Amino acid sequence: MNEALERSITKDAPYKLCFVCLGNICRSPTAEGIFIHKVRESGFEDYFYIDSAGTAAYHVGESANSKSQATANKRGIHLPSKARKFEYADLEEFDLILAMDNENYSNIKAMDKRDKYVHKVKRMRDFDPNPGDGQVPDPYYGGLQGFENVFDIVSRSCEALLNELKPFVEKE
Ligand code: 4NP
Repeated sequence: MNEALERSITKDAPYKLCFVCLGNICRSPTAEGIFIHKVRESGFEDYFYIDSAGTAAYHVGESANSKSQATANKRGIHLPSKARKFEYADLEEFDLILAMDNENYSNIKAMDKRDKYVHKVKRMRDFDPNPGDGQVPDPYYGGLQGFENVFDIVSRSCEALLNELKPFVEKE
């Protein structure tokens, strides 16, 4: 456990998570959609605010990649995101910022020149019970199998992350 994960979560002070990848069209929208789904399944939708962003601006305004959407839809999950670029203000705004790979992680940390928000920035696979090399691989230039792999990794990691946060929810 650590300080970013330990605060009481109420309807008045929902816990805010931002999933971050490079383009914000494949990995982080998948994580966002899965986390929204899991929170709803648990009856905690009023206690979390969930968003995603990209460290690059190439795809700003776009919906999730069609292969990411197809992979998620097959498993009953909708991906609502419209791509946006991660901004400095997001470091202040969110309780927890989850980078998909080491490059995303370094790019986010480079924006935090005084290490003010270092405790809030984690990697998605820091929560994966089977973390492999700690990174969610970029599926963008590959086939459907890569998107399936991303879905499985992110789903497992989101499940474990939500389980860590649930004890802090003060249900009304
Ligand atoms: P994402 O995947 O970071 O998971 O959204 C990518 C999307 C676009 C690009 C690279 C990765 N791109 O180079 O345009």
